[in-house]
Amino acid sequence: MDQFIIEGGVPLRGTVRISGSKNAALPIMAATLLAPGVYRIHNVPRLRDVRTMAHLLRIIGAKVEFEDHTLQIDTSRADFPEAPYELVKTMRASIYVLGPLLARMKRARVSLPGGCAWGPRPVDLHLRGMEKLGAHLELDRGYIVARTDGLKGATIYLDVSSVGATGNIMMAATLARGTTIIENAAEEPEIVDLGHFLQRMGARIQGLGSKTIRIEGVEALHPTDYTIIPDRIEAGTFLVAGLITGGQVTLTHCQPDHLQEVLAKLQEAGAQLRIDRDTISLTASDRIRPTHVTTAVYPGYPTDMQAQWIALMALAEGSSVITDTIYPDRFTHVPELQRLGADIILKNNSAFVRGVKKLKGAPVMSTDLRASASLVLAALAAEGQTEVLRVYHIDRGYERIEEKLQQLGARIQRIDDGKLY
Ligand code: EPZ
Repeated sequence: MDQFIIEGGVPLRGTVRISGSKNAALPIMAATLLAPGVYRIHNVPRLRDVRTMAHLLRIIGAKVEFEDHTLQIDTSRADFPEAPYELVKTMRASIYVLGPLLARMKRARVSLPGGCAWGPRPVDLHLRGMEKLGAHLELDRGYIVARTDGLKGATIYLDVSSVGATGNIMMAATLARGTTIIENAAEEPEIVDLGHFLQRMGARIQGLGSKTIRIEGVEALHPTDYTIIPDRIEAGTFLVAGLITGGQVTLTHCQPDHLQEVLAKLQEAGAQLRIDRDTISLTASDRIRPTHVTTAVYPGYPTDMQAQWIALMALAEGSSVITDTIYPDRFTHVPELQRLGADIILKNNSAFVRGVKKLKGAPVMSTDLRASASLVLAALAAEGQTEVLRVYHIDRGYERIEEKLQQLGARIQRIDDGKLY
């Protein structure tokens, strides 16, 4: 089991290149199942979850090759509409193949995802959406077995603006007969990017980035090349790293307008920012100001930056409240932060953080992707050495994070089964 050894207390300085977005790449990879042929997708991050999705596409019969950050996918002979449990249980986003398989092969056998580290994460909106489009679904020994004689357009109202359900339904609807309207749709940039990819494949979609998305079904789609948007959560994480260590960092190849709310909160917390077309420079001030955050669907403050913000507020001069309205129990990082000396009280879906003068290094355990990021951030600022265990979680969503942090001067080493490398 890999772990990170981090010597804290070094202000980060320098420039880091932001990778492509994991949460745009995953649905876009699944969308290649909608039309047979060869796709070249650029700016794909080298991540564990991307490798898992590539593995799933190979099981379905696609050919997938990585050339640096370009993925070449050939779905000409994709014909096995299954997503097996042993794969789906490692990555919930595997459910993204359901819509494309139903649309193109008229059948699918997809394992239900296991619960996540922070409670069950249902897929009822995905399933109900497919049924609304004319699929027949049944549950067979933990698998969703779906089939259709042909999908038909429908109007679908999402109880929750689910990112995944919006993406899955949108993909299926591109080949349904007639018009589909998704009400209360997700507006996240990753779903807009998926929509742009589908439009490049010939799909007819309007309303991307709004609450109402309208899809006119077409007879067939065609392969295309595409470049993925930058990862706004990786960008936000590195900005917090600059502020929590009292340093000065510049991010390149990012898209500032995708993280406006995070930038506003960073300024409130005392960061000075310089923002250009695709770069953001942050200079820390001499103190971190307490700043309340309540997560919300886009364009609100992202839940995927909640854990990172709690780490920052642990060292603020004063008290702050961080509330997660998306995942009420996404706080497994809090007990680990408390091991480093953070003063946090959890109550319902809020963390009440009282800033302390300093954190002290200790062994801590990663439990999920963004929790791991928050532990690394706290360790970078803590006094002394921190061992962050089970870093395979962080490798799911951050490309070579220890190398990028080393470039910024961080004293971080990855230990793999006891050897230092
Ligand atoms: C996506 O997950 C992201 N993952 C998550 O990022 C992110 O936290 C989440 O959106 C919210 O922004 C990917 O894009 C691969 P949801 P998703 O469906 O699609 C409820 C990361 O760190 N819900 O928008 O699974 C659900 O329980 C990951 O990169 C239903 O009730 O999230 C939650 O409370 C973690 N029924 C809320 O909606 C459903 O059928 C938002 O979930 C689906 C969701």
